[in-house]
Amino acid sequence: MAGCRLVRVGRVCGIVGYVGHRQALDVVLGGLRRMEYRGYDSAGVAVLDGRGELTVERKAGRLANLEAELELAGPGRFTGTAGMGHTRWATHGAPVDRNSHPHSDAKGRVAVVHNGIIENFAGLRAELEAAGVELTSDTDTETTAHLIARAYDAGPTAGDLPASVRAVCRRLEGAFTLVVTHADQPGLIVAARRSSPLVVGVGQGETFVASDVAAFIEHTRDAVELGQDQVVVITRDGYTVTDFAGEPAQAKPFRVNWDLSAAEKGGHEYFMLKEIEEQPEALANTLRGHFTDGRVILDEQRLSDQDLRDVDKVFVVACGSAYHSGLVAKYAIEHWTRLPVEVELASEFRYRDPVLDRDTLVVAVSQSGETADTLEAVRHAREQKARVLAVCNTNGAQIPRESDAVLYTHAGPEIGVASTKAFLAQIAANYLVGLAVAQARGTKYSDEVAREFAELEAMPAAVHRVLSTVEQVRALGRDMASSKAVLFLGRHVGFPVALEGALKLKELAYMHAEGFAAGELKHGPIALIESGLPVVVVMPSPKGRAVLHAKLVSNISEIQARGARTIVIAEEGDETVRPFADELVEVPAVPTLLQPLVSTVPLQVLAAEIARTRGYDVDKPRNLAKSVTVE
Ligand code: AGP
Repeated sequence: MAGCRLVRVGRVCGIVGYVGHRQALDVVLGGLRRMEYRGYDSAGVAVLDGRGELTVERKAGRLANLEAELELAGPGRFTGTAGMGHTRWATHGAPVDRNSHPHSDAKGRVAVVHNGIIENFAGLRAELEAAGVELTSDTDTETTAHLIARAYDAGPTAGDLPASVRAVCRRLEGAFTLVVTHADQPGLIVAARRSSPLVVGVGQGETFVASDVAAFIEHTRDAVELGQDQVVVITRDGYTVTDFAGEPAQAKPFRVNWDLSAAEKGGHEYFMLKEIEEQPEALANTLRGHFTDGRVILDEQRLSDQDLRDVDKVFVVACGSAYHSGLVAKYAIEHWTRLPVEVELASEFRYRDPVLDRDTLVVAVSQSGETADTLEAVRHAREQKARVLAVCNTNGAQIPRESDAVLYTHAGPEIGVASTKAFLAQIAANYLVGLAVAQARGTKYSDEVAREFAELEAMPAAVHRVLSTVEQVRALGRDMASSKAVLFLGRHVGFPVALEGALKLKELAYMHAEGFAAGELKHGPIALIESGLPVVVVMPSPKGRAVLHAKLVSNISEIQARGARTIVIAEEGDETVRPFADELVEVPAVPTLLQPLVSTVPLQVLAAEIARTRGYDVDKPRNLAKSVTVE
């Protein structure tokens, strides 16, 4: 399917286009190198030589693979002062050469690079095939190359590349950044955007387009941000902007005052801080396209409704934050499907000799898709004939490759070792699995499934609201930086959130932290409470499970009476808990099962701020790796 999934803040797939006085290949490769962290499943370039030739090279794997191919091609093959390039973070369509960008039409006169997903591409693909066009890739991007070539070759926009691009953009649904070149038009490049970032760099006798200023910041700091449904034509002398109808449009000039390193982090000090900000889009992109014709659909499902109906037990196996995402989802999946759900640490799973058979669904959750413990758990489950569904953020990784089915999260590359946007995306994806099983089993009517999905779709906006109020949490983090230990309490879905909050603090600030089910306090942990000890409490909604709310309020009064410093994450307007909160952090009111998506965010910010204040590297905590490929 899609070339690469978009993220509004544009941290997925790197795109760069250039028209100017320099050799385009050098400028484009330089831009791609600065954006490689965003996607490295494949890379490609297209150069216009000015004599009517368009030369394209693309290669799966890291940028170095492409550079080796270019080396082999020899210095003379890619001469020209206009060109573009792409580094891909594959989501759909395996990361192989034929799915790499740029994509071309049959005659090789048009080249297109793309960031995003074109949701109506199947119909467009069918239209092209019916017209006798042979498509050579699995991507949605390729359809745009053929459509633009056909619009340019004949009809009302014949010979006019900007008009041809606009005509095609008007037919596309979904979100996309497209950059287009045509062999007949060596002096210009056309780019279009909808809900996916595109910036223009304005130099002296040279102009750039890119998904991120990092691509051209060494050449110019004068930039222009394009708006929704806009098309820009760049030449060496500058740029013009229209809307999709061709009417002149205003775009927003700005001066880039970041250095190169900050540009790669979107102006943040650390990737993790940028990735916390990207969580609304990570959620939106994970959900996008999974509810059509009134039904929840999974990716590459390869599990029929009958397979899902046969399921009589669910295991979720994972490690770390991914494990916590399973603990969160357990409540929803059991509630929706009425099936027993066990969540097991992958490193324990196969040694406990679990009871598995063909009717067991094992959900293996992994951001990297390479975690050795989880991979071995998958292998054990399949040996026991259980069906395995991978929830993964990395297309083509080992765990999805060895699973029966896969549901990709679309959080984009997560550079920070501490999982943030991937964790929220994993919860959303686990919920999609639960809804798909409930839908197949009929334990949820279709209108109920639709309602639950609609509530999930409202979560990106709720997380956005949390992010707009976290300055209070940062101040609290700076104030807590000298704490020796922090406890985290929660009940129901708040309990795994407490575990995740403790994990973040351990791995980022190297501080002792522990998460508890609040009901366990009286069975031992309350002995830990002493004067001034910070205790973070994740409150349920007073409007949800009122009994849980009441019990947690009494837990808070117990620990406050023993001197704890209570930091309460509560639904905005929860006046009952206010008297018991030394610090009250309010989050938007959302349905009970979705609360982890908003209550986790302050805990991520808190841990990051404590680590920053302690002077630690938030992106690369000591002793840790982003993917633990050893058992
Ligand atoms: C969480 O912040 C850590 N980065 C770690 O616990 C991680 O979640 C765990 O190692 C699992 O990684 P995976 O999702 O790539 O399998």
